[in-house]
Parts: sequence; structure tokens; C-alpha cells
Amino acid sequence: MADFKVVGVIGAGQMGSGIAQLAAVSGSDVFLLDKDAGALHTAKASISNSIQRFVSKGQLSKEVGIKAVARVNYTSNLEDLRSADIVIEAIVESEDVKKKLFAELDKIVKASAILASNTSSISITRLATATKRPQQVIGMHFMNPPPVMKLVEIIRGADTSDETFNATKTLAERFGKTVVCSRDYSGFIVNRILMPMINEAFHALYTGVATKEDIDAGMKLGTNQPMGPLELADFIGLDVCLSILKVLHAGLGDSKYAPCPLLVQYVDAGRVGRKQGIGVYSYH
Ligand code: CAA
Ligand code: NAD
Repeated sequence: MADFKVVGVIGAGQMGSGIAQLAAVSGSDVFLLDKDAGALHTAKASISNSIQRFVSKGQLSKEVGIKAVARVNYTSNLEDLRSADIVIEAIVESEDVKKKLFAELDKIVKASAILASNTSSISITRLATATKRPQQVIGMHFMNPPPVMKLVEIIRGADTSDETFNATKTLAERFGKTVVCSRDYSGFIVNRILMPMINEAFHALYTGVATKEDIDAGMKLGTNQPMGPLELADFIGLDVCLSILKVLHAGLGDSKYAPCPLLVQYVDAGRVGRKQGIGVYSYH
């Protein structure tokens, strides 16, 4: 079984930076890749801050924290991932872009390496067709923020081997996560159920049922959730929510998944949420 000495992570956004942190804290050397140098710079600061939060609460020793920070290498060169035992992809939620990356990666990484995707909704079986190693392709779906949330969903594609599944599950458990397994259908478990709630919250706002504040307070206090659905959508990214709903709608064929026009309009306007400083709410 692979011991995951070297972990590659592609996409240094909110998810990739958190996944890289988990891998470094668990003892792996990490190569975190992004095409955008600014994203790498932001990821470096966010990993450092997050580790510091765990250290200051006594949940991580200072020594382990310092070593973990030093284990993360930042790069924009795909060739640097050559020695990885597993590469976890966390780039934009687009099947075409992910497939193109998987095809390139397949030619670069060693024959034994696992290619995992943190996709929120896209078919693992279809991503695997971009490679010559479909038995080593798997979905490893972390929740946001990865250092804090306790769950990883694992999704096997049609050809994913037992060996790949067992090794990936072991790695998620080494990160301190509980694993649930989903069949490879659009949106898997969590987003199949979460996204219709978020979409309905946009419909409630769109049709004037209540103010955004009351919709969020209603769901937060009324159903004991840490964030209201509109606040959570801003946290996830409205662009990510829209991409997931489109995959659910196309893949499951039910009009109940059709994205609310108001959500579409926010994304068209570039109001994609907390990461942009503006979404349903303003963060300036
Ligand atoms: N690193 C380290 N610690 C962090 C952290 C980070 N990045 N973010 C939050 N924390 C810690 C804080 O230190 C704090 O710890 P204590 O309780 O021990 O003091 C705790 O988390 C709560 O933090 P805050 O009180 O400061 O609250 P917050 O506004 O920062 O939010 C939250 C914390 C964990 C995000 C919480 O609001 C929450 O759980 N929200 C819901 C998140 C959720 O539902 N995520 C799943 C989205 S769906 C998904 O991810 C799948 C998909 O494909 C879209
Ligand atoms: P993000 O927009 O914060 O970050 C994506 C990063 O990928 C950006 O820094 C971008 O520069 C980089 N990138 C895009 N294309 C690239 C390429 N071809 N090569 C290298 N880097 C590239 O996005 P995110 O919220 O971190 O989401 C990333 C993935 O994780 C998506 O598939 C998303 O569905 C999934 N996901 C998101 C959440 C969430 O709450 N946001 C939760 C679970 C899973």
C-alpha cells in the first residue's frame, strides 16, 4: 500500500490550500501547484494562519506546525509533481478543464500514482477516461474549510480498483477525516442534498419571500446550522454553486435542479462571494 511520502495538490484556492495543509500536517512532503502566482502567495499566508490557529488552541504542537509549513513547496510547473504518490486536483469545477489536466498529469506522474479529484459534482468515471489509468482515478471530496470539516466523500469511478479505494480511504483517515462512500452520480451525497437547499434560498430571495438576513437567520437559528444558506453560498463561492447545479441539472435531468435566475445573475455580474469581496453580502 502506498505510504504517500509525496502529495501533489493542484489548485491553490480555498480547497487546494486546505488540502495541502492537511497533507503537510500528516507528514507528507507537498507540492502545491497553481497557474496563478497570486493564488500561491495567498495560499502560503492562509496555510500559515490556519496552522497558527491550531497551534494557539493547543490542538497542534508548535514543532509539528513549523515542520508542516516547511513541507509545502509552491510551484506552477507540472513537472514538479513527477515524484508524487497521489495528486489531488482542486481546480475550477469544469469537466473539460479537469479532463485536460488529467490527460497531461497522466503523462507526467509515475505509473503507480493515484489521481484524485476534489470535484463537487462531476463524474469520476468520465474524468478517468482522460487517462490511461482509470483504475487509479478516484473522487476525494473534502468539505470547506478542509482543515476544520470532518468529512471526506470518496467516489469510485466505474473502473476504480479496490487498491486505489483502500489507499485513498487510509489517506483520508490519516488526515483525521471520517469517510463516506458515494456512487458516481452527479453531486454525490452532500451536494445532491445541499445545493437544492441553497438554490431554494435564492428562489425565496428572488420571489421576495423575505430579506436575505431573515432567510439566513431563519435557517441558521430555525434548523441549527452554523451558517444560513445564502451566507454558506457566499462562503462556497456562487460560481462553484452554479457549476454544481448545472451538473446536477444535466446529470439527473430534473427541473428541480435548474439554477435560480438570481444566482445566475450574481455570477454574471462577477459577484461570486466571499473570495471576491462581494456576493449576496458585501465583505468590504
Ligand atoms: N483553519 C483553522 N481553523 C479554522 C479555520 C481554518 N481555515 N476556519 C475556522 N476555523 C476554526 C476556528 O478557529 C474556530 O475554532 P474553535 O471553535 O475551536 O474556536 C472554529 O473553526 C469556528 O470558527 P469561527 O468561530 O471563527 O467561525 P468562522 O466564521 O470562521 O467559521 C466555520 C467557521 C467552520 C466555517 C463554520 O461557520 C461552519 O462550519 N460553516 C459551515 C461550513 C460548511 O457547511 N461547509 C461545507 C460546505 S459544502 C462543501 O464544502 C462541499 C462542496 O463541494 C461545495
Ligand atoms: P477556487 O476558485 O478558490 O480555486 C481554484 C484555483 O484553481 C484557483 O487558484 C485557480 O487559479 C486554479 N486553477 C484553475 N485552473 C487551473 C489549472 N488548469 N491549472 C492550475 N490551477 C488552476 O476554487 P475552490 O473553491 O477551491 O474549488 C476548487 C475545486 O474544489 C472545485 O472543483 C470545487 O467544485 C471543489 N470544491 C469546492 C468547495 C467549496 O466550498 N468552494 C468544496 C468542496 C469542493
